[in-house]
Amino acid sequence: MKKKLSPIIAVSLFLAVISLLFPPSSMAGEERIQQELRDPNPTLNPLQKALGKKGYDRAMASGKYRYVGNTKCRLCHREFFVGRKKDPHVYTYERLVAIGYETNKRCLGCHTTGFGVPTGYESFEKTPKLVGVQCEGCHGPGSEHVRLHRDDASPFGMGIPRPRPQKPKGGKKEIKGGFLAGADNPRIIKRMCLSCHTKRWGRSFKRTPHAFQAAYDLYKTPLPGDEGDQ
Ligand code: HEC
Ligand code: HEC
Ligand code: HEC
Ligand code: HEC
Repeated sequence: MKKKLSPIIAVSLFLAVISLLFPPSSMAGEERIQQELRDPNPTLNPLQKALGKKGYDRAMASGKYRYVGNTKCRLCHREFFVGRKKDPHVYTYERLVAIGYETNKRCLGCHTTGFGVPTGYESFEKTPKLVGVQCEGCHGPGSEHVRLHRDDASPFGMGIPRPRPQKPKGGKKEIKGGFLAGADNPRIIKRMCLSCHTKRWGRSFKRTPHAFQAAYDLYKTPLPGDEGDQ
C-alpha cells in the first residue's frame, strides 16, 4: 500500500514550506532596498518623525540638543557598554558598507546616529564617532542630559546611588532627564523605534502580537539580548 509522493504534491508541499518560512511580509532584502529607494515619501529623519515637525523644530531651535557620541555616555553608564556588543544596532552602518550603500542618504537616517539632524552623523570622515545606531540614536541628542548630570560624573560608573534628575523650572516633561526620548518618556521612545522600524523595516516585530513590546522591554536592561538579565 506504500505510495510514492506524486511530484505535484511534493512540489506544492515544498512551496508551502517555503512560504511559511518566508511569509510575504518579510520581503527579500534586495526587494526592500529597491522599494526604499523608490519611496516617494522616505524616512530621512527618524527623530523628526518621532517628535513631529513642531516638537522637533522647537527642540532644535532651543540650541540645547547636540549629539555628543558614545564616549561621553560611557563615562557614567559603563554597565550599558558591557553587553552592547550584542546589540544589532551597533552594526547597522556595517550593514550598509557590506552592500555598498554607506553614502546613500536614503539609508543613513535609520542606520546611523542623527543623520540629517544638526550635529548628527554626516559622513564617515567627518563624524566617525556617530556611525551605527548608538545610545543617542534611540534617546536623542545627549548634550542637555550630560549638562544636567555633570556633577554626577564618577569613576565608578552608575554602581552607586545618585539623586534622580531634577525637573527643570517650567517642568516640560520632555526635558526631565535632558533627553528628547528619555526613559521618562516611553511614548516618544516607542515612536523612535517605530519611525525606523516601519512597515518595511519592522520584520522582527511581526512574529507575534507582543513582539514589539518584548523587543522594547529588552532595552530596559543594560544588556540588550540578555533577556531580563540585569
Ligand atoms: C526607515 C528606516 C530605514 C531606512 C530608510 C533603511 N533601513 Fe535598512 N533597516 C532598518 C531596520 C529597522 C532594519 C532591521 C529590521 C528589519 O530587518 O526589518 C534594517 C535592516 C537592514 C539590513 C539588514 C539585512 C536585511 O535585509 O534584513 C540591510 C542590509 C539594510 N537594512 C539596508 C538598507 C539600505 C541599503 C537602505 C537604503 C536604501 C536602508 N536599509 C534604509 C531601517 C531602515
Ligand atoms: C534601540 C534603542 C536604544 C538604544 C540603542 C539604547 N537605549 Fe537606553 N533605553 C531604551 C529603552 C526603550 C529604554 C527603556 C525606557 C522605559 O523605561 O520604558 C532605555 C532605558 C535606558 C536607561 C534607563 C534604565 C533604567 O534602569 O531606568 C538608561 C540609563 C539607558 N537606556 C542608557 C543607554 C545607554 C548608555 C545606551 C548606549 C550604550 C543606550 N541606552 C542605548 C532604548 C535604547
Ligand atoms: C556625567 C554623567 C552622565 C553622563 C555623561 C551621561 N549620563 Fe545618563 N544619567 C546620569 C545620571 C546620574 C542619571 C540618573 C540616574 C537615575 O536617575 O537613576 C542618568 C540617567 C540616564 C537615563 C535614564 C533617564 C532618562 O532621562 O531617560 C538615560 C536613558 C541615560 N542616562 C542615557 C545616557 C546617554 C545616552 C548618555 C550619552 C549621551 C548619557 N546618559 C550620559 C549620568 C550621566
Ligand atoms: C535610528 C533607527 C533605529 C531606531 C530608533 C531603532 N532601531 Fe532597531 N534597528 C535599526 C536597524 C537599522 C536595525 C538592523 C540591524 C541589523 O540587522 O544589522 C535594527 C535592529 C533591531 C532589532 C534586531 C533585528 C531584528 O530584525 O530582529 C531589534 C529587536 C530592534 N532593532 C528593536 C528596536 C527597538 C525596540 C527600538 C526602540 C527602543 C529600536 N529598535 C529603535 C534601526 C533602529
